[in-house]
Amino acid sequence: MLVVTGLPGYWLVNAIASGLGGVEIPVYEKLFPDGELYVRLLNPEKVSNRSVVLVSTLYPDQGRSLLRTLLIIDAIKQSNSGRVIGVIPYLAYSRQDKVFMPGEPISACVVVKALKNTGLDALLTVDVHSPRVLECFGDQACNILVSDLMVGNALKYLEKPIVLAPDKGALERASFAARVYGLEYDYLEKTRDRVTGAVSYTPRELSVRDRDVVIVDDIISTGGTIAEATRILYKSGARRVVVAATHGLLVGEALKKLEEAGVYKLILADTLLVRYDHPLVEYVDITPRIIEAIKERLK
Ligand code: R5P
Repeated sequence: MLVVTGLPGYWLVNAIASGLGGVEIPVYEKLFPDGELYVRLLNPEKVSNRSVVLVSTLYPDQGRSLLRTLLIIDAIKQSNSGRVIGVIPYLAYSRQDKVFMPGEPISACVVVKALKNTGLDALLTVDVHSPRVLECFGDQACNILVSDLMVGNALKYLEKPIVLAPDKGALERASFAARVYGLEYDYLEKTRDRVTGAVSYTPRELSVRDRDVVIVDDIISTGGTIAEATRILYKSGARRVVVAATHGLLVGEALKKLEEAGVYKLILADTLLVRYDHPLVEYVDITPRIIEAIKERLK
């Protein structure tokens, strides 16, 4: 019998336990008066010598979410578990995937190594910003692609759209989804100021006049990238722009920025511990694809 446990209050724990027919073990959590976290597995005896699926996500409150996840992994190991498969759809710090400026850390690798060193035997994540960082985990890490699911959902609003990546780095994600539906794909030329974070676009020979466009990206944080890309596309004559993104952090005024830029719909995967109830936003359930990936690992 498989045991499933994870972040208290994260809906995916229960969805995966039901989908796999596993036993769900709740985690008790409290804060000490000084603000330190305490976690305890309820019914730890059920974990003994069993394979365990640990389900968590690292947004919001990335630092604390990571620590909470590490504490739960250690609690599982201390309870004499068998193999521990981590299902962490959103990996925080994933965009700092290399040293861009001297003196910086490779934060994405720090996170991945911390998960491994604390006791994960396998790591399944969803549409990680740079799959290369999973090499820091070793060969038992897997990136589950889902951009096709969001694009599939976007198609109901569009006619024969072109699929666009907002920058060259996101082209693989866009092309994966486009190939599933036999759609044309391309990318925009983005530059980000490493100090201010401001995004700008350089024109490329790309004809979107009177065409529908679906922009595919991994993360929407401030909304700056997508808002700017959308503006450029409308300026170039696009008819309608729908956005298909995986992780919708949507910090601050992000939704307002997207609305003002003219985004018609924002289709997101539900990978976080936060969901936005807003007319622009639609969520796609990616649980079946995660369950498929876990079953592959359990073979
Ligand atoms: C960057 O390379 C990522 O793929 C996203 O495009 C970026 O993180 C989005 O950030 P923001 O919404 O703040 O522009």
